[in-house]
Amino acid sequence: MSRIAYVNGAYLPMDTAFIHIEDRANQFADAVYEVVTVYNGRFIDMDAHIDRLERSLNELHIQMPMARSAMMVVLAETARKNRATNAILYIQVSRGIVKRDHAFPVAARPCLTVTCRRFDFAAVKARAEKGIKTITTPDIRWGRCDIKSTSLLPNVLAKQAAKEQGAAEAIMLDEAGNITEGSSTNVWMVTKDGVLVTRSIDDNILPGITRAAVMTIARDFQIKIEERAFSLAEAQNAAEMFLTSSTNCAMPIIMVDTKKIGDGKPGSTTKRIVDAYWSMMEKA
Ligand code: PDD
Repeated sequence: MSRIAYVNGAYLPMDTAFIHIEDRANQFADAVYEVVTVYNGRFIDMDAHIDRLERSLNELHIQMPMARSAMMVVLAETARKNRATNAILYIQVSRGIVKRDHAFPVAARPCLTVTCRRFDFAAVKARAEKGIKTITTPDIRWGRCDIKSTSLLPNVLAKQAAKEQGAAEAIMLDEAGNITEGSSTNVWMVTKDGVLVTRSIDDNILPGITRAAVMTIARDFQIKIEERAFSLAEAQNAAEMFLTSSTNCAMPIIMVDTKKIGDGKPGSTTKRIVDAYWSMMEKA
């Protein structure tokens, strides 16, 4: 079955689904996006993703391309047309199609595109059994990483560096040597005292939807949470580390650069969180 994409009002086979050459997403990365997973036929945290999409658009003074209820219909229909059981939905909204000029165009209407592709959750689960290796890299991004912009070149370079070094993710460091987040993930550590630490969302990181879900899980487990900056050295000497994102769920980190985390295996608190996150998905 060929994949179907939604492009500005039309459902099209992927090989005929294009955006206009003067779409501002193409020329300026003047666009925002969301990645939503479909697990066992159900969207995971869709409302929270659309809330964040609305926020990103608002911060950039881009209109919602349609009413939220209409967008929900488009997303459900795109998933249905692709027979999405276990899949990723990619949603992008750009400022519109207009003759190239840096300043906001007056007449542009925002463009919505949605694609859907199958996703192998079993592979994610298998990866989480072993945990992943990571590298570190300087965070060279702009000052508004809270906005989920399609301007992702620093993230692309970071992920490529990880891949070239046989690692699954690049953890980014600010100028003070503190961890900001991963190239497409939020980063956590569990201290030797059992405190869960992750960077505050006020601090130029993406407010992850999975991050918020893990906060709820940790609160239910009565695990103490601290939202604060933490250095690479502190993380490398922590008892455990993991990362979160819609496509990684909660994923143990067993190595950062050349340093093993804990005993080099997924830690017990991390495992509890990973399992709880998967149960949450089962019940979604
Ligand atoms: N990435 N931080 C960054 C920089 C991200 O790009 C992402 C998501 C996250 C985690 O957010 P969430 O839990 O809402 O998925 C954190 C998506 C999956 C991507 O770009 O593919």
